[in-house]
Amino acid sequence: MDRITEIQALPEVLSPSRRYDRLAVWLHWAVFLLVALAYAAIELKGNFAKGTPPRNLAMLVHEWAGLVVLGLAVPRLLWRLVRGAPMPEPGWRLMQLAGSAMHWVLYLFILAQPLLGLLTINAGGHLLALPQLGIEIPALVGPDPALKDTVKEIHETLGTAFYLVIGLHAMAALFHHYMLGDNTLRRMLR
Ligand code: HEM
Ligand code: HEM
Repeated sequence: MDRITEIQALPEVLSPSRRYDRLAVWLHWAVFLLVALAYAAIELKGNFAKGTPPRNLAMLVHEWAGLVVLGLAVPRLLWRLVRGAPMPEPGWRLMQLAGSAMHWVLYLFILAQPLLGLLTINAGGHLLALPQLGIEIPALVGPDPALKDTVKEIHETLGTAFYLVIGLHAMAALFHHYMLGDNTLRRMLR
């Protein structure tokens, strides 16, 4: 690409209407890291014997990483509703619709999954707390063993299913970047 074509191409790459704003980008990657941390902690937990400090720590990290996901998901969704999203990159209409549907499913997941986790704890008769810091999250429901079993099962099933959904979402982003060569990934990076 010569210098003039390069300069002509710049406004399209950088135009605010063609990319996510800074806050949306920051929230996307912060939520991604916290979801990855929640998954890593719950996987690690299985390596330690019941009642041991590392197992309890892994569970605590899982729960708090998940709770912060919820804390960021709410402003993120509000920001998305207020600011909207850039137009999809040019391509097949069906692919654009699938991408958009996938995004709403992911929004639902980052709201519902932590709530289900919190409900599991509360219905099991526990509070999510950090006693050392005097922090205690008020219970959403009182002890209810039947509810606990149901929400725990949904939380675990969703947790497993979303390995696949998140994997597909990430692969789609990489497909756009490396195979289609469009700006889909770039506009979520800066
Ligand atoms: C993005 C957020 C979260 C994700 C992706 C997530 C994912 C998962 C996964 C994959 C499992 C294990 C499923 C299995 O064993 O098959 C799990 C278990 C569990 N999660 Fe979460 N979780 C999240 C947030 C939370 C939160 C906020 C809490 C509570 C405050 C929580 C509480 C639990 C509990 C109690 C279990 C069952 C652990 C056990 O008894 O082995 N989770 N979660
Ligand atoms: C926990 C994991 C993830 C979640 C929950 C998640 C969630 C989301 C959501 C809700 C959107 C829609 C944003 C909006 O329109 O407001 C989105 C967009 C996007 N995500 Fe993710 N994401 C995750 C991981 C990843 C990973 C690992 C990658 C890259 C490898 C990625 C790349 C992208 C890209 C490029 C977009 C913009 C797509 C477009 O403009 O059409 N995401 N993500």
